[in-house]
Amino acid sequence: MTTVLLLSGPNLNLLGEREPEIYGTTTLEEHVAAARKEAERLGLDLEHVQSNAEADLVDAVQRARGRCGAIIVNAAALTHYAWSLSDALGTFEGPVVELHISNPIARDSWRNTSVVAPVADGLIAGLGGHGYVLAVDAVARLLEDK
Ligand code: DQA
Repeated sequence: MTTVLLLSGPNLNLLGEREPEIYGTTTLEEHVAAARKEAERLGLDLEHVQSNAEADLVDAVQRARGRCGAIIVNAAALTHYAWSLSDALGTFEGPVVELHISNPIARDSWRNTSVVAPVADGLIAGLGGHGYVLAVDAVARLLEDK
C-alpha cells in the first residue's frame, strides 16, 4: 500500500484554539482523521508528522525518500522562509502538494512568498479544513498519473 506523508509545521498543534477566526475551530487531530479517512477510501495509507522545529520536518522528509509515495505539506510559517525544508522536499522523488487552511496570498505581505511552492506539484489554499481532504484527492490523482 502506498504511504502518503502529511507534514504539519509550527503552531498547527494549536489548531482549534489558535486564531479561530482565521483557522476555524477544528483541531489538527480532526483534520488528520478526515485526511486519513479519505486516504483509506482511496486505498492509501496516511502517516502524519507535526513539529514546531524545522529540523524535525527535514528529517521526516528524508525518512520518506524511497518509502512514501507522496507528501502533503502544510509547513505553516516555515513555508515562507525555511530553505532547508525546501531543499529536502526537492530531493523527494514523488508528488508534493502544498497545503494551507487560509489563503496566505490574501494576508500579510510576508506570507506572499512560499519556499515550498518551487518544489511542489500543486497548491491548495484558502479552503479551510476541507483542504486536507482535497489534498489527499490531489495526491491520489497525481500518483495515478505517474
Ligand atoms: C498556514 C498559513 C501560514 O502563513 C501560517 O504561518 C500558518 C498556517 C495555513 O494553513 O493557513 O501557520 O500555513
